[in-house]
Amino acid sequence: MDKKERILIVDDEAGIRRLLYHKLSRADYTCEEAENAKQAMEKMAANPAELIILDIMMPGKSGIELLPEIKARYPDTAVIMATAITEASNAINCVKKGADDYLCKPFNLEEVLLSADRSLEKRRLELEIKEYQERLQQKVDEQTVEIRRLFLGAIEALVFALEAKDKYTAGHSRRVTKIALAIAKELGLSRDEIEDLRWGSLLHDVGKIAVDQSIQNKPTKLTAVEYEHIMIHAQIGAGIVKPVVNDRVVEMIEHHHDRYDGTGLNQTIAGEDIPLGARIMAVADAFDAMTSDRPYRPAISVEEALGEIKRCADTQLDPLVVRAFIKISNSLPVMKNGQAARKALKAKR
Ligand SMILES: [Fe+2]
Repeated sequence: MDKKERILIVDDEAGIRRLLYHKLSRADYTCEEAENAKQAMEKMAANPAELIILDIMMPGKSGIELLPEIKARYPDTAVIMATAITEASNAINCVKKGADDYLCKPFNLEEVLLSADRSLEKRRLELEIKEYQERLQQKVDEQTVEIRRLFLGAIEALVFALEAKDKYTAGHSRRVTKIALAIAKELGLSRDEIEDLRWGSLLHDVGKIAVDQSIQNKPTKLTAVEYEHIMIHAQIGAGIVKPVVNDRVVEMIEHHHDRYDGTGLNQTIAGEDIPLGARIMAVADAFDAMTSDRPYRPAISVEEALGEIKRCADTQLDPLVVRAFIKISNSLPVMKNGQAARKALKAKR
């Protein structure tokens, strides 16, 4: 028959330790002894026991003092307190503080064995429940990730459908995302920040679903009221994605049209208070907007757009982000693609 669990007997009296050792070993438990708190913790560190029988009255650190240390470091170890019958109230207090049971000296060895069996059985059940809960939690987490992925995929598809419907904005969010991520890498953002930015950029204009198409595609200059109407898309977009993305992504979308100098329409924050992701998206968005045809003006060249971006550093755009963008502007595949696409488009006309 396999040996059962390990039991550590902690008592300053060698005679008592021997007595318990023999009784529990005969019941197929693997036993170890320690004569004080220090030795008990050393033995636990070397080879943790599943159960400790812990004497309350010991020279040096008492069992009462050692109990919280054991429970903190070895929460899955069961503890039975041992005490003189006259001090049973101390042992009862220990049970309130996490001990599993208590035994009174002089020991009835059958009772000791019964208590050890019971405490270890309870421990096994608790571990099984814990493992089951962890497995369940893992499943819930996996499902949550999957549901979130599906939701985001659906919203992303909605953005692409919205853009595809409009020849002026087709592919805008994907291009903005590529540029924004390249800037983020240049700025040394962390993987998590880059992942947030990816979602923020892909979804930044989802609020345009609420914008009047006739205003969005108006071939002449917008009135102040029309401009204000278009700009609500940032707030609406943030509201649409809020249930499925974290607050950082929501804030990026909400502030992606904020001006660095704080002078934008209905703007509440400025400068570094604007989320970095939003400041990055603003540069990428401005560049893609300028190099794309709009109902009221044709696209300008990459060189002209870069000049304009530089000119807007410190006013509309964050100078730090602008510098990073200029640095990577030569290596952006999206620009080459954009130029090629525009040339192809012009050739067709
Ligand atoms: Fe926008």
